[in-house]
Amino acid sequence: LASIEVDVSGLQPGMSLTVKWRGKPVFIRNRTPKEVEEANAVALADLKDPVARNANIAADAQATDIDRSAGKGKENWIVMIGSCTHLGCVPLGQSGDFGGWFCPCHGSHYDTAGRVRKGPAPQNLAIPTYTFASDTVLRIG
Ligand code: FES
Repeated sequence: LASIEVDVSGLQPGMSLTVKWRGKPVFIRNRTPKEVEEANAVALADLKDPVARNANIAADAQATDIDRSAGKGKENWIVMIGSCTHLGCVPLGQSGDFGGWFCPCHGSHYDTAGRVRKGPAPQNLAIPTYTFASDTVLRIG
């Protein structure tokens, strides 16, 4: 299937869901205000990978929190391919030094916007093409 639809109505702030899309896990998280705030507080100069890696916007967009999220009004949502950009292991959620994701294979730490902050991973977690088909249904692909 080229695209899938996911009902996210049950995801309260602080809850995540992992779905399969094109054979890969996709992380969907309804972030808490604190997680969004933490991501926003990070200076772009402190990022290892300053590029948004978001398939929905310009390829050279910067990795600000808004451009990593689902966008204005939906900043709480983050949707990412759950494959570490080092060698493809599946990172663990809500862990690591930055409260985001942690890849146990070789120790890459991602922040609450899925941006790599430490470890061997070269890029932020990739964001697939997606759109909200309605307020509660996410269409990936
Ligand atoms: Fe994730 Fe190596 S595969 S750190």
